[in-house]
Amino acid sequence: MATKILVTDDISQAGIDILSGLEGAEVVVRTNLAPDEVKEAIADADALVVRSQTRVTRDVIESAKKLKVIGRAGVGVDNIDLEAATRRGILVINAPDGNTIAAAEHTFAMMISLARHIPAAHRDLLQGNWNRKKWIGVELRGKTLAVLGMGRIGTEVAKRAKAFGMTVLGYDPFLTEERAQSLGVKRCDLDTAIREADFITVHTPLTKETHHMIDAGRIAQMKEGVRIINCARGGIIDEVALAEALETGRVAGAAIDVFEEEPLPMDHPLRRCANVVLTPHLGASTVEAQENVAIQVAEEIVQVLRDDTFEHA
Ligand code: NAD
Ligand code: MLT
Repeated sequence: MATKILVTDDISQAGIDILSGLEGAEVVVRTNLAPDEVKEAIADADALVVRSQTRVTRDVIESAKKLKVIGRAGVGVDNIDLEAATRRGILVINAPDGNTIAAAEHTFAMMISLARHIPAAHRDLLQGNWNRKKWIGVELRGKTLAVLGMGRIGTEVAKRAKAFGMTVLGYDPFLTEERAQSLGVKRCDLDTAIREADFITVHTPLTKETHHMIDAGRIAQMKEGVRIINCARGGIIDEVALAEALETGRVAGAAIDVFEEEPLPMDHPLRRCANVVLTPHLGASTVEAQENVAIQVAEEIVQVLRDDTFEHA
């Protein structure tokens, strides 16, 4: 019987080619499936490849009869029920660094767009206006940026911020003083970072600890006129509290790429805020990053399936 590799989110062709190169493999690409369709498609699959769209719930995992490995073409595995996978002995692998630069560059693009009102000015110009006074922005130079989560992406963002002449505060339980110094970052606790920053960007995974790490209480501690960026995961920031603070002007602007519910619901309060830049989870969406993560994850899946065939030969 062929080894079935099911791909349920769009991944780069380079990854599909590697998967197809496995002897005896049949690669089945079925995207935009409803939860019941995923359950039906996974029933006889040996491997599953996803990005962030497919929810690999306990229910989905329990429908799989011979699944050995789940590959996540990207970093965050919060769309996969790890406990259910582990209980069934199913390996979960990701591509931890293939999209680091793409996500760091997107974060910077968002921060500059916010500081200089680029999307709003663009829209305004297309409507026939020439409002040079309306869209006065702020400079990044001399401002303080708090980076919450100094892992791969946070570090790359911090390096770029230094090049722009910003003071960078780093909050991360695993950030050592030595590493902070080598990056030119001031290591601090969450309260200090929140209180002192002009711009705050989050780069942690979504966990029980980071869920609503920025909520109404934290926003109240921030400088009046702070700007907030989230290109990490929806749910790290309480979006309702953020929308309220944007409306009152306490938060001067927010640039958000990831949301608690994706696609962003039509009636979501952030859609009504004037001072926001919103993108549809594009942090990793570059040609380079998509090739990197697809290749990384496909190579690992092939390795796992080959080892499995070898063990059972
Ligand atoms: P990483 O694992 O390299 O870094 C995460 C860092 O967060 C670690 O250093 C960790 O110590 C720190 N951290 C964990 N819990 C924390 C807490 N409670 N407080 C402060 N710091 C904490 O991961 P990464 O590759 O840098 O990715 C960061 C985030 O970006 C992830 O959520 C990932 O899913 C997301 N991401 C989003 C996109 C996108 O398309 N928008 C693209 C890539 C990655
Ligand atoms: C990730 O965690 O890698 C990002 O969310 C990007 C993606 O889903 O492709």
